[in-house]
Amino acid sequence: MSVLITNIGELFTSDPEGPPTMEAAALVVDGATVAWTGAAADAPPADERVDVGGRAVLPGFVDSHSHLVFAGDRAQEFAARMAGTPYAAGGIRTTVAATRAATDEQLTGHVARLVEEMRRQGTTTVEIKSGYGLTVHDEARSLAVARQFTEETTYLGAHVVPEGDPQEYVDLVTGAMLDAASPHARWIDVFCERGAFDADQARTILRAGAAAGLRGRLHANQLTYGEGVQLAADLGLVAVDHCTYLADADVAALRDSGTIATLLPGVEFSTRQPYPDARRLLDSGVDVALASDCNPGSCFTSSMPLCIALAVREMGMTPAEAVHAATYVGARALDRDDVGALVPGRRADLVVLDAPSHVHLAYRPGVPIVTATWVGGRPHVRATAV
Ligand code: NIG
Ligand code: FE
Repeated sequence: MSVLITNIGELFTSDPEGPPTMEAAALVVDGATVAWTGAAADAPPADERVDVGGRAVLPGFVDSHSHLVFAGDRAQEFAARMAGTPYAAGGIRTTVAATRAATDEQLTGHVARLVEEMRRQGTTTVEIKSGYGLTVHDEARSLAVARQFTEETTYLGAHVVPEGDPQEYVDLVTGAMLDAASPHARWIDVFCERGAFDADQARTILRAGAAAGLRGRLHANQLTYGEGVQLAADLGLVAVDHCTYLADADVAALRDSGTIATLLPGVEFSTRQPYPDARRLLDSGVDVALASDCNPGSCFTSSMPLCIALAVREMGMTPAEAVHAATYVGARALDRDDVGALVPGRRADLVVLDAPSHVHLAYRPGVPIVTATWVGGRPHVRATAV
């Protein structure tokens, strides 16, 4: 079945090869796929017609970094931060205890609620990490829960050392835990940071993951300068995430390797750290993606519109660059060429804004202007069971 979506005030295609935006536009969906885009006046016939009344239409957001599988609440930790206590990686252990104590059903219900929250804010593709189980059983079941919601699952057994000897834990992460996790995961990630894992440990863990068929990603340079970004560039990873503290050599290494810097401005908002300098990266020729990092500790927002607004207000990105980073580049950060842009052949994942242009995502911060989210050529209908 085909659907003509017409009277689009601004179609933000996110197509790096074509015009990034079109006015007075239309789009035809055939099944789950975009079949045609162009001027509304030239639109071909279709089985159904939807008039969006001059609203803007954008690709669905691709959130390439989230930690949705967890239990418990760390609101008090946030409140203490706002009163001056700094963020520290060790808070992860609080969530680990709550996650281990939760049933599979509780974890699944929690992820379902968060994914639904994301959908309502325009996210159509989401990556979900494990990392709050940190035992063989709890990492495997975290990933099995995540897999019910997305193909983009990431094994993050190396989130923090939960207890005991660090070297023994690295052996577990690269041994029995990897064996149990890898059937449920596409990616492997390491929190490379003071208080978590150093660059040598990260290299060892990513190598073991690669041998088990998992692609590497990295949390790096979030809280301090460190060697993680250089490691990601050396290994030619598709993306390295956070990139808050960067030396000039890190920026050059990212440019030369083509590794995408995924910036997570909700974290700096929620930890009161300095924002990463997106302008510096873009002007140096580094590709920048935006993601939420939705997690109970450093950043409990599921909102890509908030991330876009922060990137524009605080990180020197234009609204168009920020939307591109939250769609097309986010898809590339997951090595996906089937989502992230409204061009013929890609999946018809799209957002309708109750606004005339993409600029309103930053111009109207905090206002729920996402009025519809389409996934695979159909409007998402709000789940009632969650
Ligand atoms: O991406 N950096 C590591 N992991 C999360 C925070 C986890 C937590 O505090 O629970 C992050 O910021
Ligand atoms: Fe993270």
